[in-house]
Amino acid sequence: MVRHILVAVAWPYASGSRHLGHLAGAYLPADIFARYHRLSGNRTLMVSGSDVHGTPITVRADGEGVHPQVIVDRYHHEFVNGWKALAIQWELYTSTGTANHHEVTQDIFRRLHENGFIDRRTSWQFYDPAVDRFLPDRYVEGTCPHCDYHYARGDQCDGCSRTLDPVDLLCARSKLSGVKPIQRETDHFYLRLSDFSESLEEWLRSRQGWRKHVLNFSLSWIEEGLQDRAITRDIDWGIDIPVEGLGEGKKIYVWFDAVIGYLSASKEWAKIQRQDEAWKDWWENPDAEHVYFIGKDNIPFHTIIWPAMLLGYGGLELPTNVPANQYVTFLGGKASASRGIGLTIRKALDLYEPDALRYALAANLPENNDTEVSEKELDRRINDELVATWGNLVYRVLSMTRTNFDNRIPERVEQTTQGDEILAATGQTLDQVAAHIERVELRAGLRTAMAGAARINAYLNATEPWKLVKTDPAQAATVLKNALDAINHLKVAFAPYLPVTSERLHSMIGLPGRLSDRGWEGAEVPAGTKLGEITPLYRKVDT
Ligand code: MF3
Ligand code: ZN
Repeated sequence: MVRHILVAVAWPYASGSRHLGHLAGAYLPADIFARYHRLSGNRTLMVSGSDVHGTPITVRADGEGVHPQVIVDRYHHEFVNGWKALAIQWELYTSTGTANHHEVTQDIFRRLHENGFIDRRTSWQFYDPAVDRFLPDRYVEGTCPHCDYHYARGDQCDGCSRTLDPVDLLCARSKLSGVKPIQRETDHFYLRLSDFSESLEEWLRSRQGWRKHVLNFSLSWIEEGLQDRAITRDIDWGIDIPVEGLGEGKKIYVWFDAVIGYLSASKEWAKIQRQDEAWKDWWENPDAEHVYFIGKDNIPFHTIIWPAMLLGYGGLELPTNVPANQYVTFLGGKASASRGIGLTIRKALDLYEPDALRYALAANLPENNDTEVSEKELDRRINDELVATWGNLVYRVLSMTRTNFDNRIPERVEQTTQGDEILAATGQTLDQVAAHIERVELRAGLRTAMAGAARINAYLNATEPWKLVKTDPAQAATVLKNALDAINHLKVAFAPYLPVTSERLHSMIGLPGRLSDRGWEGAEVPAGTKLGEITPLYRKVDT
């Protein structure tokens, strides 16, 4: 039976440039995972889009004195260009601004309300008397009550990652006027999260193969006691509330609508395929695998709130795994575009070739710990590993073949034990890389592929084909044929990580068609195949 893999990737706020922390945290790992599954012949649906609602957008629009849509359009385009430049490949990258997304969100809201999981309450919210406006989420800053960080935002603390309610902040101040806000009563709809405590805990405890930090964080949230959460806001930018009763000036809370994007984007994709029901192959199929790629600050929204919404709605599949990443750091500080720490994706693309950047980040994915990705570290990964071990190997073997064997793949004249060993080992490498990617151990997968390249280098150093071409051409042919076949195997293992150069290597070896149309399996290159044009796969970066 064909496997159905949903690759659900965090929706970036279209409120500013995203940085390498976002790339390494969600987009790159998702792309590696999805590319592997496509190559393996699994039906793979990778979706996301720009998150266009909420205070991240409106705070920026207020600051620039423009309409929120101006901000949204600017960054949505920047993101789409970034994915293209980085070969991040989506079945659909959309946005939460579509009519389809609004409809799906309202449908879920309505059903949860009908099912009794949403009710109306009166609460106290911050209000700025100087500008006569309520101050939801990021319109308030102050000191975090948990970690004492001074610039905590009303919705979340960057110091300790905890989600917050603006009224929890100490020394709160309005982002609009700087004054100390007052509190006013206002009505809102609440999601009765506490109703789901037991079912969520049971579900979480049944999860297998989850990262420890994700499971522990989620279970401790439940142990602390699930609080019912307001899912509407006093704001005029967002999705209309489909249930009467609150009055004017309110919209659905951005986090309620954003997570629904995974479902609405799947539906939009199905419509584009002209198979309107195709989304059900993932969402109503208990055998489908749903893997969510997010940063750790998004964990509770994906392991608790979204699953609760899915349970309350009924009939839709919950996450299979949420392999959230930790943070990347630059010289020890957490990457943050707004605070100018670390490179934005745009800036990094000026400095590095796309596959080189992908390599350096994939080698440093913060899978279980915060991980350093300063420029020095990226340069080292590219020059000392990617270029030195893989790029040079490929160039050396192809050039030798070109010069000594008339630009064609030579014949294996008489196989040796060493030759058999290297071929068997690279075959195994492919299986080992697959096993790692299946478990979302993407760093380990890349390390394994690289070890395979190092093994081919060792084989060449032991056999010295550059000497054999003069003394024993038949043996030189055999060695190069072995090396070429081994490289051709590894090309597949590298393909999810290095899609652009693996595709180029495929043509350089002289093989027809596209690598991405072939399967996750190694093949020997037929002797006599004429090589394509040979150029170095990567250039060294200036340090
Ligand atoms: N926009 C959020 C952020 O950048 C992530 C949203 S992920 C999704 O932190 F759940 F909403 F999809
Ligand atoms: Zn904090």
